[in-house]
Amino acid sequence: MELAGKRIGVLTSGGDCAGLNAVVRAVVHRAVQGYGMKVIGIEQGTAGLLARPVMARELDPSIFTGDILRRGGTILGTTNKGNPFSYEMPDGQILDRSEEIIEAYRELELHALIGIGGDGSMAILRRLAEQGGLNFIGVPKTIDNDLGHTEVSVGYATAVDIATQALDQLQPTAASHSRVMVLEVMGRDAGHIALNAGVAGGADIILIPEVKYSLASIKRKIERTYAEGRNFLLVIVAEAVRDEEGQKVTETQASGAVTYGGIGEYIGHRIAEETGAETRVTVLGHLQRGGVPSARDRIMGSTFGVHAVDLVAAGKFDRLVAWSGRHCFDVPLQEAIAGYRAVQPDSSVMLTARGLGICFGDD
Ligand code: F6P
Repeated sequence: MELAGKRIGVLTSGGDCAGLNAVVRAVVHRAVQGYGMKVIGIEQGTAGLLARPVMARELDPSIFTGDILRRGGTILGTTNKGNPFSYEMPDGQILDRSEEIIEAYRELELHALIGIGGDGSMAILRRLAEQGGLNFIGVPKTIDNDLGHTEVSVGYATAVDIATQALDQLQPTAASHSRVMVLEVMGRDAGHIALNAGVAGGADIILIPEVKYSLASIKRKIERTYAEGRNFLLVIVAEAVRDEEGQKVTETQASGAVTYGGIGEYIGHRIAEETGAETRVTVLGHLQRGGVPSARDRIMGSTFGVHAVDLVAAGKFDRLVAWSGRHCFDVPLQEAIAGYRAVQPDSSVMLTARGLGICFGDD
């Protein structure tokens, strides 16, 4: 097929993260310089395709002034609200607006769409593609790193670096004041960030939703550590860890949205009550999503962007770009969506953590 002049849309969808701009840049370079295609950047994710006029602009390598790789966030904007299949209108009505998105794809005269998103976005975009017969390719991004069939999603490495740096900064103050420092990190229902940052940052206790903890076990670890002559501990807690009754700990935002939040405070208080230790709690929050992308995220983002365009050129659609070992490859999108990836109890990093004597609250 003649590719020159064909138009590819690219959008970022769901929560932002570091490295998204590396993907967009790679898509533009590969498509324009490699195949003579045109790239249309869709703004604000699917919201840009619901807007009229459609929110989109042509992207050309000449617009990149040299700082794009270094910039956090997404130059295209994004949204993690408003499922087009059940879209809440300002008057509270719920509408199926999927056909409007399909219309926008046609109006933009797209040959294909590259969507950079997490599992929720992929499920929505794939359904749209199926309904409208759109040529769709997915690129995995999420700090949660919970998409199936890919070892790595864009944004995850930077989030782990930032959480590790937070532990680096908490350690001296913990030692100076003889405190137990609790750090709450994101990750939605998966504990990848907490586990990996916990190992990298020297946490003594890691709590993740995949492992059920007891306060008694945590107390034993704290007492053992004091008995060994140490005066402080570092605890890292994934946001989806439940309270002792097994209940989710959430916050309701002013908008009405219910998000994870508060388990750090809960654990900090319970440790203080049970052990008498002086505790302080830090919630890392959205700092994990912003900031300068790590080298790893820039490399992954660039690799995924080039591969996604090569798939378009090869006429291979309904695929998710993925990474395993030292290789970029692609898998059927549906398999990746269905294969949600939480922390595996027998994974090497889990075994390493246990080998280091890190407590998960289950012994
Ligand atoms: O999925 C990415 C993520 O950052 C989660 O780790 C977190 O629970 C959630 O998004 C936060 O969403 P929001 O930006 O809506 O607060």
